[in-house]
Formats: sequence, structure tokens, C-alpha cells
Amino acid sequence: MHYYIAPSLLSANWACLGEEAQNVLKSGADLLHLDVMDNHYVPNLTVGPLICEALRNYGIKAPIDVHLMTKPVDRLITEFAKAGASRITFHPEASDHVDRSLDLIHKHDCKAGLAINPATTLDCLEYVMDKLDSLLMMSVNPGFGGQKFIPASLDKIRKARALIQTSGKNIQLAVDGGIKLDNIYQVAEAGADTFILGSGIFHEKDYSKIITELRSELDRVKK
Ligand code: DX5
Ligand code: ZN
Repeated sequence: MHYYIAPSLLSANWACLGEEAQNVLKSGADLLHLDVMDNHYVPNLTVGPLICEALRNYGIKAPIDVHLMTKPVDRLITEFAKAGASRITFHPEASDHVDRSLDLIHKHDCKAGLAINPATTLDCLEYVMDKLDSLLMMSVNPGFGGQKFIPASLDKIRKARALIQTSGKNIQLAVDGGIKLDNIYQVAEAGADTFILGSGIFHEKDYSKIITELRSELDRVKK
């Protein structure tokens, strides 16, 4: 299984975001995770498409995964696609027409993902599996960086992996929230292939060192 390390820019130094993005990619990250919060769906406020576009104009070529924690989602899907997003993930509770929002993402040639909150069941996936490029399991409640990993997430990650296997589709399984060097192994063992870390990477002094250490934890997982 190929493992992807996706630093969440939420914990980066926003005063020099382009540089932070470039450094973390040079240090071995596979892609960037951009958290979009609207002070409505979640009690926090971050950034809009302008920042995604600014990163592209700065020269960032790596995939940018946009995690929409906004309600509604459709207008922002279009805006982020135009701003250079590679993948757009939203929470099913935030769209009145989940199937249509997934189609909208694909219409703009972006990959589409759904994000599942800690208390949300996996039932909502049943009729849209064929439209998913990825599934993002929240292992904290969305809205803030630096929260503690919710242990019950592990069992849910296993269930999600089983669903993906049954579907026979090539769907990436990302986990977001509270991942650190001391639990990434367990998260991978439960079936995740994409690891989103904010504070676990950006609060470290040496990005190369922490990403190398994270990868050696992943190497321990039986493939
Ligand atoms: C939380 C965000 C996460 C956040 C993770 O709502 O979706 O992407 O940045 O941060 P850490 O890794 O610090 O839990
Ligand atoms: Zn996120």
C-alpha cells in the first residue's frame, strides 16, 4: 500500500505560508491539506479560494486537498476548483444534495471526497461509493487543530477500509485529527493510507526529521 503524508496548513505559520508549504514538501510531504472553516458549519474561520490560488501562484505544484468545513458547499466547490484545488472533500451534513455536490466536483475535474465526523455513521456512503475518490475519517471533531485523537476512530477506520475493499474501488482512505508519531502506526494498521497532520508536523522544528520518523513508523506496518 502506498502511504501519503498530508500536512495540514492549519498549524503552519500563516505569515509565511508559501514558504511553509514549500518547506514541508521539500521535506518529503506528498501533498498539502487546506482546511476551510466558515464559522457556521464549524466554530472557527480560516481561508477562502484566494489562498489556494496564492499558493499556486507562488509555485506550489503538489496536489492541494481542500477540506471544506462549510455549509453550504456548492458555490465554494466551484471557486476552489478554479483556484487550483486538486481534491475537494466536504461533510455530507453540509450539503442538501450530496450526490449532486460530488458530481459538481468531478465536473470541475477535481477528485471528490466525503468527510465523516466522529459521530456520523458510514451509512451515508452506501449509494455514493462509485462517486468517491477518497474518504476522510475525522478522528477529532472538525474545527480546530491540536485536539486529541478519539480512540473509537480506529474501529471506524477498519469498517471504512472493509467497505472500500468490498466496493472494489480505488478509494483513498484519509484520517484527519490528532495523528502524531506515537499513533500513526495504529492508524495505518487500522487501514488508513493517507495521514493528515497539522500540529504533529508544523509544531516540530525539523520537518524533514519528523516526516522521516513518520515514514519509518509506516514501514513497520505489515503490508
Ligand atoms: C480539524 C482539521 C484538521 C486539523 C488537524 O478540523 O480538519 O485538518 O488541522 O490538526 P491536528 O493534526 O493538529 O489534529
Ligand atoms: Zn482537515
